[in-house]
This record gives sequence, structure tokens and C-alpha cells, in this order.
Amino acid sequence: MSPKGHNRLRHVAIIMDGNGRWARQRGLPRIEGHRRGVENVRQIIQVAREIELEHLTLFAFSVENWQRPPDEIASLMDLLELFLKRNIKDLIKNEVRLNVIGRPEELPDRVQKPLHKALEQTAHFTERQLNVALNYGSRTEVLDAVRAYAEAVREGKEDPRNLDWPHFENYLYTRGVPDPDLLIRTSGESRISNFLLMQCAYSELFFSPVFWPEFGREHFLKAIESYQQRERRFGKTGEQVQHPTDHAIANS
Ligand code: IPE
Ligand code: IPE
Ligand code: MG
Repeated sequence: MSPKGHNRLRHVAIIMDGNGRWARQRGLPRIEGHRRGVENVRQIIQVAREIELEHLTLFAFSVENWQRPPDEIASLMDLLELFLKRNIKDLIKNEVRLNVIGRPEELPDRVQKPLHKALEQTAHFTERQLNVALNYGSRTEVLDAVRAYAEAVREGKEDPRNLDWPHFENYLYTRGVPDPDLLIRTSGESRISNFLLMQCAYSELFFSPVFWPEFGREHFLKAIESYQQRERRFGKTGEQVQHPTDHAIANS
């Protein structure tokens, strides 16, 4: 319902892609790209805070990423462990609540402790939330949701005759998180790669050619500027969203 240039921005989701290519272009091992990618995460979190974003969601590891070479997976898990240990203080200082979407219970043991610690120590914050997608896949999420819903039906807690979307979305990992307004993917790939397929039904998409380690403050702000210029219609006509009050009167 927002006219051009006034879109409300509560939630940005990012597919952080291109670490490996960034490194290879420089003759470095892929893991060096991941290391730089994690450094960049800190910067983007900072910008998100400055622009008073309520929700920032970062795709860190997909269910499909287990197919990568074991040493790359191990390095990614090391980086995750380090990220959690090094950034917990900052999250607390900036009053950012950490939330995980995915199946974190399948991550290695060494990640579990710092992860739970960070979740517990930030659970009381309400202004800002960092959602990290770990061992996440949209199709897995839908299956987990359907399974939980079916279980609730069997226990007599749910009646399928009353099922609608606002109700069903409570079974997704993103329960309580508003749908992303803007989805950004870096590295030049124009695909969603099984990320938030349900939640991005009406998100604005922004594909950047820049590899994630180099996707800095200016790139992030440019993506947001592009978002602000768009006309979100949600199935309505352009006239309806440009002059919402006229129509409200005409329809009353
Ligand atoms: C994104 O960078 C990080 C993860 C998927 C964990 P990639 O590792 O996919 O980098 P490219 O796409 O191979 O360049
Ligand atoms: C998506 O990137 C997953 C993350 C950014 C964590 P991928 O690099 O895994 O996606 P594809 O394989 O290019 O589609
Ligand atoms: Mg990739």
C-alpha cells in the first residue's frame, strides 16, 4: 500500500554468495573468501543497525551445502564457531536478538555451545533481530512445518477446516518474523537457491553482481535505494496503491 519512494522497510534478507569466486579470482583458497565474507557480515550488521532495520536475515549455510568437500564444510563450521564467540559481546551491546532458522540441531557439537549461549544471552532483546539461516532449506522448512501441523491435528489441537496462511506460517522456522521486504543476492547469480520461498512471495528482489566479501555499505544502501523506488502492489492495481485513500473512500 506504499506509494513510490515511501516503502516501509522492516526486514532485509540476504543470500551472501560469491565467497569462493572472490578468493579464486585472487589466487587464494576458497576458505579465505569465507573468512572475508564473515568480516563483511559485521559491517552489514552495523549498517542494518544504523538504518534501524528490525530484521536482518542472513543465509549462512544451506541444507544443500553439506554436499561440499568435507574440509570446506569443516572450515565453515570453524568460522561459525568463531563468529559466535567473537560477536556475542557486540550483539549484547547493540541489543540485537539472535535467532536461528533451519535445523541447527544437526550442526556439529562444537557449534552448539556458543550458539545456545548467544541465543540465551540475547533472547530478551526486542528492537532488533538477526536471523541466521543455518542448515536451512525452504523445502525442508515446509516439510518440518507440515509434520508439526499434522502432529497437532492428530492430537486434536488443530482443525484442518480452519487452516489459512496466517495460521500455517506459525509452523515455519520464521514464526514471529515479518516477511522480508527486500531480498538481496550477491555474486551475479539470479536464483533463490531454496531460500525463504514461502516468505518471499511478495518480497522485492535485488541481484548484485558484487561478490559477498566486497558487498559493502554503499552496495547495501544502493539496494535499499532501489527498493524505495519500487511500487509494491500485492495484487492490486497501480492506481489503488498510489492513491489508497481515494479507493478507501470509493469503496466505502
Ligand atoms: C557463499 O559463497 C557462502 C556459502 C554458500 C557458505 P560460496 O562459497 O557459495 O561462493 P561461490 O558461489 O562458490 O563463489
Ligand atoms: C546459497 O548459495 C547458500 C548460501 C549463501 C549459504 P550457494 O552458493 O550454495 O547456491 P547455489 O548452489 O549457487 O545455487
Ligand atoms: Mg555460491
